[in-house]
Amino acid sequence: MKVTVFGIGYVGLVQAAVLADAGHHVCCVDIDPDKIAGLKKGVIPIYEPGLEALVLKGTREGRLVFTTDAAMGVGHGQLQFIAVGTPPDEDGSADLKYVLAVAETIARHMAGRKVIINKSTVPVGTADKVSAKVAAVLAERGESLPYAVVSNPEFLKEGAAVSDCQKPDRIVIGTSDSEAEKAMRELYAPFNRNHDKVIVMDVRSAELTKYAANCMLATKISFMNEIANLAELLGADIEAVRKGIGSDPRIGYHFIYPGCGYGGSCFPKDVQALVRTAQQVGYEPALLQSVEDVNYRQKQKLFQFINRHFKGELEGKTIALWGLAFKPNTDDMREASSRVLMEALWAAGAKVQAFDPEAMDETIRIYGQRSDLKLVSTLEEALAGADALAICTEWQPFRAPDFERIKASLSEPVIFDGRNLYEPAALKAQGFTYYAIGRGDSISQNQ
Ligand code: UDX
Repeated sequence: MKVTVFGIGYVGLVQAAVLADAGHHVCCVDIDPDKIAGLKKGVIPIYEPGLEALVLKGTREGRLVFTTDAAMGVGHGQLQFIAVGTPPDEDGSADLKYVLAVAETIARHMAGRKVIINKSTVPVGTADKVSAKVAAVLAERGESLPYAVVSNPEFLKEGAAVSDCQKPDRIVIGTSDSEAEKAMRELYAPFNRNHDKVIVMDVRSAELTKYAANCMLATKISFMNEIANLAELLGADIEAVRKGIGSDPRIGYHFIYPGCGYGGSCFPKDVQALVRTAQQVGYEPALLQSVEDVNYRQKQKLFQFINRHFKGELEGKTIALWGLAFKPNTDDMREASSRVLMEALWAAGAKVQAFDPEAMDETIRIYGQRSDLKLVSTLEEALAGADALAICTEWQPFRAPDFERIKASLSEPVIFDGRNLYEPAALKAQGFTYYAIGRGDSISQNQ
């Protein structure tokens, strides 16, 4: 099929590359000329396992093209994906200006029937707004061309985006238009082979499904973080509790890892956006608000441990930091817990010596060069001359480090672990002071 994707960010690029790999002909449109020029030369703007190979293959085989020419994009696809950003505005609501600008572009240039697909995470009611925008522009043009607006949310995880997209758990299609449903089923047929993963529903339910999924996952994490905080005060061990509750299949082992808070481009933004949506219809979403509040507090935790340990005397201290990305296998720093920690340390007069396997360029892009931030190229270099080690991301190479070397490098053997990577008893036996999240004994021994 012929498909156009507007917005070649994370979601758009992965979706386009995966569709092209499955045999569709995909035209990618973005307003950023540098990004498009780079992609034409095979420069992939984000790090995502497997993505580069797919983009290069699609381009070589002629099924994936990149352009800034919106008219060409509209002309190309019978299916028009909108995958542009929906950044939060000042009050946390999703800002729809980019989505509606693409709707307008499509309506300006279309010459025949189009299926317009919302892939961006958008508030309930957006499909209706897109539809109204297209209708208004067509009326202005004096045309009455047929079109349908479909909600088709993505559920991909960063770091596993390509495989999530190729092997989706479910394909949610929100439409009441039978022709559009047929086209969407045909589009996704290559990904829907073994059993039917397509779930068709009305457009508003599809829009809410995306928020409900992300908010449920964020709720699981904040719930665990709350219990972890309690475990610290009660002298219990959250890791034992996690195993204990996860064994109940109704709860499950997935996504109940406590830590120094969730980050990324989805959970913080989507929880806030659903809170705003609820308030706009006169409902106070107490649970969602708490999910957000617990996460805000959780992101301060490592700094609080560090500050307490050093009795508020952080001026001139150097903290080694392992992990900058909001989670492993990505270079994404959006809403990363590391940022909250670094900014608090800097404000207190401490220096940071950081290592991350992928996110160092991104860190420089965000913070620039500064005298209180040194980025180094190995785990070991981060430790050299530092006063303590803090860990914000559970990258695989951090899981089994050389503890003797850590001890020898730090001026004091103390580790602040925001991802519970180590066993408190083992670290204690090796002479470390070890702070982790919700591991009662390890915390109380330091209090
Ligand atoms: C998430 C959803 O998983 C995905 O389905 C949706 O489409 C987009 O949002 P992503 O933001 O890529 O994906 O990351 P994810 O792996 O879900 O992690 C989000 C954050 O939660 C990370 O900061 C991670 O460290 C944290 N997390 C995750 C926990 O603290 N504990 C857990 O048990 C799981």
